[in-house]
Amino acid sequence: MENVYHVPVMLQECMDALAIKPNGVYVDVTFGGGGHSREILKRLGPDGKLFAFDQDPDALENVIDDSRFTLIHQNFRFLKNSLRLHGVRTVDGILADLGVSSHQFDAADRGFSIRFDADLDMRMDQVGDLDAKAVLATYSEDDLHRIFGMYGEIMNAKSLAKTIVTARLAQPINTVAELKEVIQRMVPKGKEHKYHAQVFQALRIEVNRELEALQEFLLQTVEVLNPEGRLVVMSYHSLEDRLVKNFMAKGKFRGEVEKDFFGNEIKPFHVLSRKAVTASPQELAINNRSRSAKLRIAERLDLS
Ligand SMILES: C[S@@+](CC[C@H](N)C(=O)[O-])C[C@H]1O[C@@H](n2cnc3c(N)ncnc32)[C@H](O)[C@@H]1O
Repeated sequence: MENVYHVPVMLQECMDALAIKPNGVYVDVTFGGGGHSREILKRLGPDGKLFAFDQDPDALENVIDDSRFTLIHQNFRFLKNSLRLHGVRTVDGILADLGVSSHQFDAADRGFSIRFDADLDMRMDQVGDLDAKAVLATYSEDDLHRIFGMYGEIMNAKSLAKTIVTARLAQPINTVAELKEVIQRMVPKGKEHKYHAQVFQALRIEVNRELEALQEFLLQTVEVLNPEGRLVVMSYHSLEDRLVKNFMAKGKFRGEVEKDFFGNEIKPFHVLSRKAVTASPQELAINNRSRSAKLRIAERLDLS
């Protein structure tokens, strides 16, 4: 089941990074098929605890039957309060494996994949009020330009936005096939797959407010992690990786590290991964998804 739903990326590297204490309390904020969670449980003793989050109801089917494990159906942007509801204030390690699971790509009716014709949905939680159809139907040309340029890193994002805004005047763009048809002229020859993947990625990031959720989550990790607690984040997009890198280094997303009255830097984390960890050649050879993965590791400093 676990392999079909999602093959976990950099499993051993993530476990090493978490440096699991058998009696500790851990959080896997992106449960998915539970590949990483199962591995964490193997390393926990009878008194250890693992809390996992996933916003997608499909992931709940993979729940692990283990008294040390709790699965929370929630967006990880509510990390702190959700843990409090379960009586937990601080933890010893947090793992985030960002983005979507293979299952979400493979579910033909969810609209995440260019391989199937489906309604353009792309909501990970399946209940939010913004889906990809709504983005295409209601966003201004400037906003479409911005999301395609920033989240999709699409070179002709401006013309793509214009093409969509012109096409939607004639008829709404509701399905994967309709979108592909509308943007056909924009796609560079021989680069169809890459181009479509970039367009879909941009829409998905916008629909799920992925960068906002990541920032809210990271800010809460400062309060939630115990001193020496580990923050382990795996990202698949350069914008995500930049946010993670800056946050681990400075405790914020831009600007300089804050200093106290005496000029000493006030940094919540000590970075343990000077360079991002990437998948081994062996893993790259067998799992395509590991290609773009960047793993970053930090330890919470004791500032008391
Ligand atoms: C890359 S998969 C994780 C795979 C998992 N590590 C495994 O081994 O199976 C990402 C998962 O995180 C979930 N997810 C993404 N963003 C989320 C968020 N903001 N809150 C909660 N879950 C989220 C997705 O629904 C998906 O199931």
